[in-house]
Amino acid sequence: MMAANRRIFLKILGGGTVLAAVGVTGFLTTRTPEQALAPWDSAGNYQDVRKWALSYALLAPNPHNRQPWLVDLSIENQVVIYRDKEKDLRHTDPLSRQLTIGMGCFLELLSIAATHAQHTVSYQLFPEGEDGPIAVATFTAGAKADPLFTQVMHRRSCKEPFSDRLVASELVQKLSGFAEVITEQQQVARLQKLSWDAWLLEANTPRAWKESVDLMRIGKAEINANPDGIDLGGPLLESLKLVGIMTRESQLDKSSSGYKEGIKIYHEMLMATPAYCTISTAANSRIDQIDAGRRWLRLNLQTTALGLSLHPISQALQEYPEMSDHYNKVHSLLVKPGHTLQMFARLGYGPTVARTPRWSLEAKIING
Ligand SMILES: Cc1cc2nc3c(=O)[nH]c(=O)nc-3n(C[C@H](O)[C@H](O)[C@H](O)COP(=O)(O)O)c2cc1C
Repeated sequence: MMAANRRIFLKILGGGTVLAAVGVTGFLTTRTPEQALAPWDSAGNYQDVRKWALSYALLAPNPHNRQPWLVDLSIENQVVIYRDKEKDLRHTDPLSRQLTIGMGCFLELLSIAATHAQHTVSYQLFPEGEDGPIAVATFTAGAKADPLFTQVMHRRSCKEPFSDRLVASELVQKLSGFAEVITEQQQVARLQKLSWDAWLLEANTPRAWKESVDLMRIGKAEINANPDGIDLGGPLLESLKLVGIMTRESQLDKSSSGYKEGIKIYHEMLMATPAYCTISTAANSRIDQIDAGRRWLRLNLQTTALGLSLHPISQALQEYPEMSDHYNKVHSLLVKPGHTLQMFARLGYGPTVARTPRWSLEAKIING
């Protein structure tokens, strides 16, 4: 969302004109939300092995960058990991399936990181059932370093158009242990249309759309104050905020040129997709969802290692009633009857994109 919105306004107004209009050239060099990005730089700066590994785990991908993890360190060699229900996405993730997948990404990254500090993490999942902690992680000394760790700092979700370069079959082969990969061009065309239809339906479902708009952090001050959600930063957007053009209200106004241009930009992005990746499960328990998240994290690190870009597009998988036709269609196209499509993503070659904000580890420790 961030990059797309930046492009909307560049296109409509032209960056230079707006910057000149507000007379804030100093903005160009001072708008990076350093505080919100600081957790990327402090990863690995801890003595306690649990904190060391957690400082990487919090860089995990997760829906709407809600970062719903909370950790209790009060027992030696253990981390009790909770999902913060205040971060729920009631409208677009009514069953908290996606948020649970995000927790799976966090767990997998925690255990990959721990191997680099010569520790193995074992998990007891949902030890008190669904309403208790997600997991109790126990750290024990001794491990073989996981090579995917080298990709952790480079991993991104790439929310940009991809080039028309096809994903070569040797690379598809190298992803085969991680996910299903779809490169057959007729199927790709069907999925482009389906992902677009689902995106548009979401944009036209007011409560779902508003849930995302409410999570927008516009400009450096808002991003630093709440380093989660949808970060819309940079000099241009910040200038547009100053002149009252880039606001949450304008994003809700379907007659505004910004909203209309946004639709075009999303269409262009979703169509600029040469391949897809999926992760599905036979059942759909919380443990299956955690497992899907662990697989997703490994896939995202492996695509990074191979120089590929990956972008989850979850609209068609969402379980609210208005989406049910698209939900059924994507399932009938991609999985066996009764199976659940947990992740659906664009795969290809995109540009290098910026790191996204994170809350610090200290903000996520509830005990210890
Ligand atoms: C379960 C899940 C669903 C996601 N769905 C979407 C999506 O529909 N659209 C999107 O742009 N990004 C989606 N993402 C990516 C997140 O927005 C992204 O991980 C988060 O903003 C942090 O950015 P990063 O992955 O680049 O660190 C999803 C991620 C996860 C784990």
